[in-house]
Amino acid sequence: MRADETAQEAEQPAAADAADGGAFPGGATTLWHGRFADGPAGALSALSDSLPFDRRMFAEDIAASRAHVTMLCEVGLLSASERDDIGEALAQVESEISEGRMEWAPTDEDIHTAVERRATELCAAAAKMHTGRSRNDQVVTDLRLWTRAAIDEVAASMRGLARTLAERARHAHEAGMRLPGYTHLQQAQPVGLAHHLAAHAWALLRDLGRLEEARRRTDVSPLGAGALAGSSLPLDPHRTAAELGFAAVFENSLDAVSDRDFVADTLYALAMAGMHLSRLGEEIVLWSSAEFGFVELDDAFATGSSMMPQKKNPDAAELARAKAGRLIGHLAGFLATLKGLPLAYNKDLQEDKEPLFDAVDTVRLTVMALDGLLRTASFNADAMARGADDPFAAATDVAEWLVAAGMPFRDAHALVAGLVREALESPDPGTGADRLVELVSEHPDLGPSAAQRLAPGGAYHARTTPGAGGPDAVAPQLDRLDAALAEASG
Ligand code: ARG
Repeated sequence: MRADETAQEAEQPAAADAADGGAFPGGATTLWHGRFADGPAGALSALSDSLPFDRRMFAEDIAASRAHVTMLCEVGLLSASERDDIGEALAQVESEISEGRMEWAPTDEDIHTAVERRATELCAAAAKMHTGRSRNDQVVTDLRLWTRAAIDEVAASMRGLARTLAERARHAHEAGMRLPGYTHLQQAQPVGLAHHLAAHAWALLRDLGRLEEARRRTDVSPLGAGALAGSSLPLDPHRTAAELGFAAVFENSLDAVSDRDFVADTLYALAMAGMHLSRLGEEIVLWSSAEFGFVELDDAFATGSSMMPQKKNPDAAELARAKAGRLIGHLAGFLATLKGLPLAYNKDLQEDKEPLFDAVDTVRLTVMALDGLLRTASFNADAMARGADDPFAAATDVAEWLVAAGMPFRDAHALVAGLVREALESPDPGTGADRLVELVSEHPDLGPSAAQRLAPGGAYHARTTPGAGGPDAVAPQLDRLDAALAEASG
């Protein structure tokens, strides 16, 4: 858990309370103010104060202020003793917030105001802290720092889930576990369970690539852009960027304070990850149903019904399926917020934080739950093999046997389709599969060697082409997956 989460639990500042009335101390108002000063001002604070959510960035705000103060001293705008005194005040503010001792004031509109207000109470020189700086470059500096760290955390948890999938795939491969692969959610051709699990791991690896790209775009310092136009004071943006470990520095002050592409990029990477997690979740929901019976969830990752005693529900997988909705919503909503905004800072940009924070939390929680669910789930090899080894799932293989013997594929397809139809029309329900084996064995163009293709495991083992779902092709794929995971871990 991040230290900032402690601060989040602290009490809401009074300024966020819409009921607290007007902007004047002691409730003093003029007659003509009565119509809107009492109420609208409270409502305005409630609408516009961002402290309830942006105090989550307090550590980043303090780090950025430290870097700024260090630079101000180096360029001669602060004395060394002022720098040290402000540094001490900032250290105290940081511990007050992280330990939940900070007394927030009604005038603390946001974390930047709050930190500066408290630092100035502790040390008069802190009134110089905002020299050459605006909340416009400050807020986006803080948010870039926060996002950079958040991406690293989410990526680490996603790598963990991809590794769990790879490990389970390895075991499934060694155990020869196979299941029917589906198209249109109809049984199609058998594949290794390893192949199926690894497919999800490859998708997560692509998500990790997208997060890495978002991180690269986030890693640019906007500090020194001021309100919008830079400064007449001798600021050194390269110095603050280096101090904060940013890989690059802004080129254009207007762009620096207006640019929230990195938020949209991160929301996109997270929405894509959420979409992938939803597809994995949906399969777990299906597979854990009585109809499939492919997987049994551990009690720790399933829930019961308040009414039906026999129920075991896959809530974590269902929520993984559901959470994609809000992640996609955050991306779409935020792009709509950005659309049409004129340069440079507009208060609209304050709407960047809540979707981003929620998207990061949502993906992190979902990944953790799916990881635990997959680690503890038990796969039912027999139930999966029943579908995988159904002779009908090997119909394509019989057609391919004919192709290997020289028949054009279209003719082979028609011939086998005719046998499938005849088998399905077999008067004895449930014996269609046996009938298909008989028909193939007895057919003059086919015979016992072709019928071998219908034997249990036959079609599974037969899929040997590069990237295919049979064991001979899956073995090198799993090695490549391990290598890709090792590379993704840096
Ligand atoms: N709380 C604001 C935000 O999150 C900080 C920047 C405010 N700047 C301003 N000019 N009012 O965007």
